[in-house]
Order: sequence, then C-alpha cells, then structure tokens
Amino acid sequence: MIISTGPESIQKCTTALAEGRLVGMPTETVYGLAADACQDEAVAGIFAAKNRPQFNPLIIHGHSIEMIQDYAEFSSQALKLASRFWPGPLTLVLPRKGNCPLSLLVSAGLDTVAVRIPQHPVAQALLQAYGKPLAAPSANPSGLLSPTCAKDVEAALGDEVAYVIDGGRCHVGVESTIVDMTSDQPVLLRPGGIATEELESHVGHISSHKGTEIKSPGMMQSHYAPRLPVRINVNELKPGEAFLGFGPNMDHADLNLSPSGDLKEAAANLFKMLRQLDTTPHQAIAVASIPEQGLGVAINDRLKRASVR
Ligand code: TXA
Ligand code: MG
Repeated sequence: MIISTGPESIQKCTTALAEGRLVGMPTETVYGLAADACQDEAVAGIFAAKNRPQFNPLIIHGHSIEMIQDYAEFSSQALKLASRFWPGPLTLVLPRKGNCPLSLLVSAGLDTVAVRIPQHPVAQALLQAYGKPLAAPSANPSGLLSPTCAKDVEAALGDEVAYVIDGGRCHVGVESTIVDMTSDQPVLLRPGGIATEELESHVGHISSHKGTEIKSPGMMQSHYAPRLPVRINVNELKPGEAFLGFGPNMDHADLNLSPSGDLKEAAANLFKMLRQLDTTPHQAIAVASIPEQGLGVAINDRLKRASVR
C-alpha cells in the first residue's frame, strides 16, 4: 500500500519494521526494499520477496556515521570518504565490528558489510525514527530494473511490503557507487551516483578490480566458505560428520535449519548454523537435502558452492 510522507506514515513503518515486515523506502538513488538488518527472518524475507536465486550481500542504511560505527570498522581513509560524501549515493564495504548484531545473512556470511547514509529526507526520517540500521537492496524483483518511483515498487512488490512511502521520484536515479575499503587499496565494486574521480580526489587511486577476482554485484567470489568440507543432500551420515538437518524427524541432527521445514526460517539460520558447526571438532559438515523451491534455490546455491571447494 502506498502511503504519503509525514510522521504518521513513519510511525506505521517503524511498527511494521519492528514486526519483521518489509517497507518500500525512497532514497535519492532508487527505492529500497527495507527490513530490520538485525532480524534474520526479516532479512530472509527480503530475499524471498525479490525472488533472488542467490544470497547477494545487502547494503545497510544508517542515519549517521556515529550510528554506523557501532556496526562497522572505519579506517582513516574510509572515514575521510564518509565525512565528505555522506549523506549521499556512496556505499562503503567495511569490516563488520566484532560481535556485530547485524544478521549474518545481510553479509551473506562474510566478515564485511556494505554501509551507506542516504540523503533523501524520508529515508533520513525513517532511519532516525527507527534508530536501528535497515538492510535495503533496490526494491525490484530479481532481474528487473531498479524502481525510481513509489508506483513502480507497488506494481512489482506491492504484495510483499507492508507499505511503500511515496517520497517522489528519486533524483539520482542510479544506484550508489560501491567502494571496498577493507584493504589499504580502495577497490571500485560498482560505479554509481558519485563519479570515481570525485572520490579519488580525496583518497587517491581507486582500482577497479583486484586482478582476476570479480567482486561486482552478483559475481561475488569472496563468499563465506566454511573451513570444514561440506557434503550436501545427505541421507546417511559418515563418521566424524556434523549433521545440519532440515525439517521434522531429525532428532539425530546437531542443528536443524528449520524443524518445521520452513524455508524462510532455514535461510535465516543458514550462515549462523554453518559457522556454529564450523567451530566444532568435526571433520566435515553434512547437510540434509533442501527442497529446490522458493528460498530453497538460494540456500542450495550457497551450499553447492561450499561443497565443491
Ligand atoms: O543505491 C543503492 O545502493 C540502493 C539503495 C536502495 O540504497 N541499494 C542497492 O542495493 O543497490 P543492492 O542490494 O541492489 O546492491 C547491493 C550490492 C550487492 O549486489 C553486492 O554485490 C554489493 O552491494 N555488496 C553488498 N555487501 C557487500 C560486501 N560485504 N562485499 C562486497 N559487495 C557487497
Ligand atoms: Mg539491485
């Protein structure tokens, strides 16, 4: 449902977000599909709504550098870019802070997180009222164009969101520029709303790729991979294996992604549970088979990559 801007609308949206529901949020770049970044199931809901066959990591939005500093580590270079270009169409990939309460799913299991402070007054109002970071990818179903007005969000994802706030047309109209600031050499991951040259005048040369390693959206190579080997579609356990179950009648499982067989719950638990089992003294992780439908497609994609290493 499209709602107009104003304190009452913001109040409705913060209530919905706290309940784990999704909200269409205007930003100066494109509309975002926002969820509470600390709630695993709410974040899983983003992937379900977008029908993404993979868990690409998402951008976290905050209202101030101080707020984001609670979740991510800033190098002095990163702080330079943040102070100069935030709020605005710039996203920085930074190390997650130790014991960071953000869902692991927003980072697709990585130790890094993409962060940004949007400039749009409605995004600012929502973030200030909510007080906690919001994960928000562009509010389009996977494979379709990013929306730049509320009507487009409603048409594509109206059934998936509690509300779409109508903040008018997005004035930048393309997504934010993404720069990886996790090493000494900044790396451009996605060109966008701020020209690279403009960023370079503050932090020096920004390289486009690290050699052959492709880190651009949708082609992430640095996905989290468990330390232990992973075996998938397992019916019978081998000695030394930890068992990650799915569904009912799995009493022998060390952990269960979803005892009731709910794929959204399984997605919400995936990275957390893989990490938990990865730190046990087992020799391998065996995973029960997951139905190849809905979020199961993205879960299986992730498990397949982990298993062929
Ligand atoms: O302008 C924008 O950035 C919009 C608005 C809503 O803020 N958001 C947006 O999000 O474009 P999304 O999810 O469509 O694109 C985020 C991209 C991902 O595809 C991913 O490749 C990259 O950011 N990304 C996120 N976290 C990352 C990480 N930890 N490391 C590397 N890349 C990351
Ligand atoms: Mg997108």
